[in-house]
Parts: sequence; C-alpha cells; structure tokens
Amino acid sequence: MAHKDPYDGGENTPSWKSDFPFQAKKATHVGRREFAKFLALFSGALALTNGAIVIKSLTFPTKPLEGEHFICNESDVAVGSMLQFDIQGSKVIPYILIHLKANEWRAFEQKCTHLTCAVRFREDLQKIECPCHHGFFSPDTGEVLQGPPPRPLPQLEVVIKDGKVFVKENEQKNKV
Ligand code: FES
Repeated sequence: MAHKDPYDGGENTPSWKSDFPFQAKKATHVGRREFAKFLALFSGALALTNGAIVIKSLTFPTKPLEGEHFICNESDVAVGSMLQFDIQGSKVIPYILIHLKANEWRAFEQKCTHLTCAVRFREDLQKIECPCHHGFFSPDTGEVLQGPPPRPLPQLEVVIKDGKVFVKENEQKNKV
C-alpha cells in the first residue's frame, strides 16, 4: 500500500520542506552507479592491503634464529607432555616443546602451515594436531600426516645441557 506524503506540496507543507525538497525514500536509495563505485573503492583498498603484506614479507623476511635459547629445565616437562613457549625477536613466534620419550625432545613452530591455527601435541594419538581443519603432523619430524596443511612444521633443534633445555635454529631440517 502506498503512503501518501502529508507534506506533498499542498498548503500544509512547512517552508523547510520546500527549501530542502528531499523525499525519505530517495534519500536512502543507493543507485547502481554508487554501489559499483563503492565496490571498486573497496576492492582497491583490499588489493592495496594485500600488496602491502607481500611487500612487507619480501622486504623483511623471517630471520633465522640466532644462538641458543634457554627454555626450561628437563624436569619441568614430563615425558609425553608439551610446553608452549615464545622466543622474543623481531617478531614473537610461538613454539611447542615436546618431551617425546625419555631423553627425546622436539620443538616446532606452533603455527599450522595451513591457516596458522595453533597446533598441539596429542599424547593419546602420538600426533601433533591442528584443531581447525583436522590437520595432523608427525611429532618426530613435523611432516604432514593428514589434512590440508601444505608443508611440515618448521622445526628447531633441541639441545640438553646439564639438565637444561635449549633450542636453536635447525639448519638441516628447515632447508627448503
Ligand atoms: S589451519 Fe591447520 S589445518 Fe587448517
């Protein structure tokens, strides 16, 4: 049902209405041209943002880890458990330290190589799991066992000295 504008230009119309002759319906109407303009601007902004991310990753590539980093005492992580840790650097990268078996340790980046969800060690499965899309990695090598992750988890080398656990860059295993 069409509504009649009470101020349709007749004698009841206040003076402001004739000074600003906009109709509510028309004022909220977005034409095809405006919508196309908005879409073009929006896609342009997205393209610029993506370009900036690519340029940043090329200009500031991830630096290899320098030196050894103390993580914890051996006694702090029981066999079959995992410890999450960060290494402060140019950017903070989360890692997991896994006490696989007696005297066997592994350390991996915690970001899944699919869409960067945080992975975790599942002792019951003896696998590293990404809960987002059911990706699984080997806790021994970081290789992909199942699911969408395209690459193994980057691995650090674990060094034990006097009951203390250190990690350092794993030059052999992270070579592409
Ligand atoms: S983010 Fe890990 S499987 Fe998708």
